[in-house]
Amino acid sequence: MSQTDKDNSSSRKMLVTSALPYANGPLHMGHLVEYIQSDIWVRFQKMRGHACTFVCADDAHGTAISLYAQKQGITPEASVAAVHEERMEDFRRFLVDFDNYHSTHSEENRTQVAAIYNCLKEKGHIVRRTITQAFDPVSKRFLADRYVKGTCPRCGAADQYGDNCESCSATYSPAELINPRSTVSGATPVERESEHLFFRLSDFSSVIRSWIDSGTIRQEIANKLSEWLDAGLQDWDISRDAPYFGFQIPGETDKYFYVWLDAPVGYMAAFRNLCDRTEGLDFDAFWKPDSDAELHHFIGKDIINFHCLFWPAMLSGAGYRTPTKVHVHGYLTINGEKMSKSRGTLIAARTWLDHLGPESLRYYYAARLSGRMEDLDLNTSDLVQRINSDLVGKLVNIASRNAGFITKRFDGRLSSTNAAPELLDACQQAAPLIASLYEELDFARAMRKVMSLADKANSWIDEVKPWVIARTPGEEDRLQAVCSVGINVFRLLMIYLAPVLPAMAKQAAGFLNTDSLRWDDSQTLLLDHSINTFTPLMKRIEQKQIDAVLEQARVEALSQQSTASSSPVAPAAASAVAGEKVARADEIGIDDFSRIDLRVARIVDAQPVEGADKLLRLTLDLDEGRTRTAFSGIRKAYQPQDLIGRHTLVVANLKPRRMRFGVSEVMVLTAGSGGENLWLVQPDAGARPGMPVS
Ligand code: MSP
Ligand code: ZN
Repeated sequence: MSQTDKDNSSSRKMLVTSALPYANGPLHMGHLVEYIQSDIWVRFQKMRGHACTFVCADDAHGTAISLYAQKQGITPEASVAAVHEERMEDFRRFLVDFDNYHSTHSEENRTQVAAIYNCLKEKGHIVRRTITQAFDPVSKRFLADRYVKGTCPRCGAADQYGDNCESCSATYSPAELINPRSTVSGATPVERESEHLFFRLSDFSSVIRSWIDSGTIRQEIANKLSEWLDAGLQDWDISRDAPYFGFQIPGETDKYFYVWLDAPVGYMAAFRNLCDRTEGLDFDAFWKPDSDAELHHFIGKDIINFHCLFWPAMLSGAGYRTPTKVHVHGYLTINGEKMSKSRGTLIAARTWLDHLGPESLRYYYAARLSGRMEDLDLNTSDLVQRINSDLVGKLVNIASRNAGFITKRFDGRLSSTNAAPELLDACQQAAPLIASLYEELDFARAMRKVMSLADKANSWIDEVKPWVIARTPGEEDRLQAVCSVGINVFRLLMIYLAPVLPAMAKQAAGFLNTDSLRWDDSQTLLLDHSINTFTPLMKRIEQKQIDAVLEQARVEALSQQSTASSSPVAPAAASAVAGEKVARADEIGIDDFSRIDLRVARIVDAQPVEGADKLLRLTLDLDEGRTRTAFSGIRKAYQPQDLIGRHTLVVANLKPRRMRFGVSEVMVLTAGSGGENLWLVQPDAGARPGMPVS
């Protein structure tokens, strides 16, 4: 029995997750592939009447998060909190509707991770082994994962982090990197012994094999995993030495769980947090081994091993059920190219929303997602064309060309006769096919089916010509019946598209004067029913809106590059800087240069900033009868007291920037790449405060 058959008989109990995004920066268009895909699927399941719960959380631990916080000069906790707020807003605006969005840095997760670990340990699946690990002889610390960069031992790609390769997706230990260096001090790490804890994955080879063989993942992935299994599973290093942002390992000193151990447990924690405040939602009913609930994970192709090897092993080792399915999608490219910060094609979710609505992107992704693992391309001209032709030209047009007559000539009343049984039958009978396409995540074919029905309806309308009937005396009933067909087709197609276009569907329900649309409503028609006045449901989009998105992304990327090392800049401030259009690579004229008010300043005071371990608050004398304040990211490079009395150069007419700690009124010039590698720019002796620099 396929899942679609199962559908008709009973209501399913489902828990759906999407991968927990790292709390190390804004969400981008690539992330949205996943969150939109899973949201569409969940909305579909809910429309079908299934008890479906959708959870996600921030992945808050590990070195990537520490580094991101450090770059901004704030604590990881503060950084994670700020990111959390920002992305809740992104999800809300993109209509991604989690039932709960939690965090791995939570008490629920701490408790759950400890329980799983203790259980695995008790059963003998955790072993202790001394390894040689990269140690930074300058900063005197062990260098976990991202604190070491070097050449990938498998594919030879340069500049890869110590835990996995972004080029070939290999995972390895930092010690295996070729030509490693510390990202903390730049020093070449030395090897030092450290005791680590390992999870004996090989204890679960047969568990994993039968899990893979039971239809949990698509064949192409199962084949790949089989190869890994055949090659033999390595023990997995699950501990990291302090300092590390994560959970301390119970019963150990100065040891922390590796982020990927507690990350998937975050799915359970997010659900637990929801259960704790939801009547009738029972954690154990979803997680005990004989659970009749389904567990679905949505992930990208880069994190298959964590979800299809480690995670089922951890779950079964700790006495829990394993996932029903893991749905894997490919990577997003933009106009045929991999997204890249340096090329300015890493488009933040927010940047899109500055110029376009969420549903154009949701529809476009739906039209490109097939449920397979291949990459998908966001082609900007294709997107414009598809939205305008499919949604505006085909779908909305059906409603707009019929609604006026119904409102003006029949007081909003639909006919009681069905004037096109064949057409409406075709639309209604497509419901099971479209449902099975949604179920299988073949949204692309579902969209094509809906649009072919829209084509059919539009040709029918073109043939019967309601606008001609409208001018023919005595044809009132026929006009009402014909236009009512159009409205009914529109309603049926809107039901089918509701998982993809939830806001538009809601607006359409208002126009149609019906309750919100459920899947089974497609088996009824609106006859002898009053509707409300039609208001436009979607506007055409223009190429220049997309161009503006790309341009803004490019400018944001450039401004981040040129400000990243000098001082932490809030995104809003970054675009203000970029707005000046002084990108490093571009040539400027003398006029551009003279717009920058460069001055000599004397540092009269320098103080650390509480909660920002990278920042100093500088008080500067520019000989103006008052002092000015600058927040500068040079704390790693200078002792505050060493700066007092020195001269330096500042940009005096930079738009003041409001930061968490106060307003930065001027910008101090520094050379170097950041961290300890920063040097204050200082004029020769004799230059006095306030002197212009030209
Ligand atoms: N924190 C981990 C997941 C832990 S799950 C227990 C992680 N985070 S991520 O922020 O890097 O990615 C979140 C999801 O977005 C992943 O499923 C990832 O595959 C997906 N994508 C990230 N970039 C993407 C594209 N460019 N295209 C499509 N999906 C992408 O991995
Ligand atoms: Zn590699």
